[in-house]
Amino acid sequence: MVASDPAVLPTALAKAVIDPHSYAEWDGLLDTFDHIRASTPVAKIMPEEEGLFEPFWLITGYDDVMRISKDNATFLNNPRPVVFSFNQAIEFSRAATGSNMLVDSLVVFDAPIHPKYRKLTQEWFMPRNLGRLEDEIRALAHRTVDRMIEAGPEVDFVKEVAGPFPLRVVMQILGVPPEDEPRMQMLTQQLFGGQDKDLSGSGMDNMTPEQVVQLVAGAVKTFEDYFATLAEDRRVNPTEDVASVIANATVDGKPLPPRDMAGYYIIVATAGHDTTSASTAGAMMALANDPEQFAKVKADRSLLPGIVEEAIRWTSPVQHFMRTAAEDVEMGGQSIKAGDWMMINYVAANHDPAQFDDPRRFDAGRSPNRHLAFGAGAHQCLGLHLARLEMRILFEALLDRIESVEPAGEARRATSTFVGGLKSLPLRITASTEAA
Ligand code: HEM
Repeated sequence: MVASDPAVLPTALAKAVIDPHSYAEWDGLLDTFDHIRASTPVAKIMPEEEGLFEPFWLITGYDDVMRISKDNATFLNNPRPVVFSFNQAIEFSRAATGSNMLVDSLVVFDAPIHPKYRKLTQEWFMPRNLGRLEDEIRALAHRTVDRMIEAGPEVDFVKEVAGPFPLRVVMQILGVPPEDEPRMQMLTQQLFGGQDKDLSGSGMDNMTPEQVVQLVAGAVKTFEDYFATLAEDRRVNPTEDVASVIANATVDGKPLPPRDMAGYYIIVATAGHDTTSASTAGAMMALANDPEQFAKVKADRSLLPGIVEEAIRWTSPVQHFMRTAAEDVEMGGQSIKAGDWMMINYVAANHDPAQFDDPRRFDAGRSPNRHLAFGAGAHQCLGLHLARLEMRILFEALLDRIESVEPAGEARRATSTFVGGLKSLPLRITASTEAA
């Protein structure tokens, strides 16, 4: 049965979904999603003030998020922003770039362009090719753990390890030299954490949408200039890195237009580290809170892939993406019209009790664990094998080098509706006395 009137979410709940501050309070956020999923799994969110943002459907159930993710002909990434945006932000973007989105990248394109662009780097990101990076990643993991131990015994794990390690991995594959990393880190955080006063570097809480978008636009421009120079270099001196693949790629016999090329670099540079930082920090927090689990995996490394996978589900670093319906569809008893905007919420889907028993529990033995943290369908995360590989290698190094770990203060989460996770994780580390 399809309801004749849409199930509109009460204002307080709607506010909790779009307010970045809600995402800093994890348990409260999960309570909110549990409540919404149980009452209105497909719910309409209306702006409190007309014109603030376009109304959208919030999708919180696992099966519905899976269905939308896999049906890329009915649920499009274009032409609406792929991430929740206020109208003011969209107008700013249109004025600055002529497009609804500041960056044109894989996540913005649909077929027929999307598969052509995706194909350019798909092979590069497959396990067979990534295998040749293992030694380098392992050496980096050991250097990072060494530095953490030197800084210890009390450390902020995000600052010492979870932040810098995935950043260095992705910068290495993009051929960005270490001295440029702090700049890249800052720019990514402005792009993803523009709403968080610490991560954006703005020091401002409650920035207006216009201030956030100006900050983001500045970051995009700097990224574009930087990668234009890098691409020029890789055309003249190609190497085996992914930067060279993108710089020399052709689609339908033509090189990528400059905006698309910049967008390709930006999506890899940005999607590739804050996400993995968040799942890495989450995994470590889970182990610090559960010494028995820590001891078990230290003794039996075959448990590690399960821990990595569960950490990715449990943290769900990419919290949502948006889609636009290409045609009228029914879902959850609601009638969604062609052109309607929809939020697929990965945090909510990955905590759906209909799919995951006791979803808030970190269960390293969870099987099956068909989470949606990497999405599904045509846009499923391009870097998922890399993310798993770097986490596994890093935790091997950590387990080799530390005897025990315990919380040493309050962990704090980022204020962000899009990519989120821990921005600080104080830990007390006891290093192993014998070398591994
Ligand atoms: C735990 C870490 C990560 C998480 C949770 C994550 C999550 C996601 C999600 C949810 C999507 C969108 C999927 C969809 O729309 O169906 C995505 C897309 C993407 N991710 Fe990741 N990601 C992670 C790590 C990485 C890494 C390490 C890289 C690359 C170096 C990367 C590159 C990309 C790219 C390029 C896309 C766009 C793919 C497309 O639209 O075709 N990600 N990721």
